[in-house]
Amino acid sequence: MPKLTIAIDGPAGSGKSSVARRVAAMLGYLYLDSGAMYRALALKALRRQVALEDESRLEALAKETHIELKPPSAEQEAAGAKNCVFLDAADVTQEIRTSEVAQAASRLATIARVREVLVAEQQRAGAGGGVVMEGRDIGTVVFPKAELKMFLEASPEVRAERRWKEHQEKGERVTLPEVFDEVIERDKRDRERQVSPLVRAKDAVLVDNTAMGIEETARLIVMLAQERAKELAGAAVQTEKRYLSGLEERKGPGAH
Ligand code: CDP
Ligand code: CDP
Repeated sequence: MPKLTIAIDGPAGSGKSSVARRVAAMLGYLYLDSGAMYRALALKALRRQVALEDESRLEALAKETHIELKPPSAEQEAAGAKNCVFLDAADVTQEIRTSEVAQAASRLATIARVREVLVAEQQRAGAGGGVVMEGRDIGTVVFPKAELKMFLEASPEVRAERRWKEHQEKGERVTLPEVFDEVIERDKRDRERQVSPLVRAKDAVLVDNTAMGIEETARLIVMLAQERAKELAGAAVQTEKRYLSGLEERKGPGAH
């Protein structure tokens, strides 16, 4: 079966990371969280006190920064990590998951020159296929030719509640209305920005998982991926048959 590129986009808390991670595990694919790259760069900008409006400095920062995504160990996965994130070789998997970093990430994600640097990295990381990458612009910009594109949705209330529960589990004191406002503000910025806004690609399959679990959503995507892989394998066989019969015709009768 051919190895596909699967793009999963959607707003904050729509289940992209959890579902993408599960789909990748079921198919034996590589899972890549593009949002973690924006978060890691945002963390560096915050630490260095680079203004989030300073486009030139942020572009320079993006170019000199090395961000790496690695599959977690069994232990790290049990602790909730889906991708381990390294910023200039230092593990920042936990540090990038705060609301402050999320907001900063969505601000620097509005800058075209910063996006160009990260998109090029993402394209390199996923170049071999057999990959599930999730984010906001994967099906529209990073991999517009992905063989399967998904757009996940869920109601804003449910998405905020999911995020809030995560904060609760980590012992972070933040109220549900605060998380709701953070998620809504970030979504609005992501949907309304000039460059690569969060939008469903025309050929993306929309799945509203407000009332669906991670496993159920992941299974649906795996089913679609298997169908798509079969279609592609069938098309490849047809092309080969056409090629071979063309060869026979050119050789003419009696030729071997
Ligand atoms: O990556 P994204 O922000 O789209 O969402 P996520 O981090 O995968 O999911 C946010 C939280 O919602 C996680 O704690 C998931 O376990 C949970 N979730 C859920 O309860 N049901 C779903 N169908 C999807 C996610
Ligand atoms: O996990 P959650 O859905 O809350 O956010 P994330 O995927 O970690 O992304 C953090 C921020 O990075 C988003 O709010 C976007 O502004 C930005 N981002 C983006 O612009 N393009 C991507 N492909 C991924 C993330």
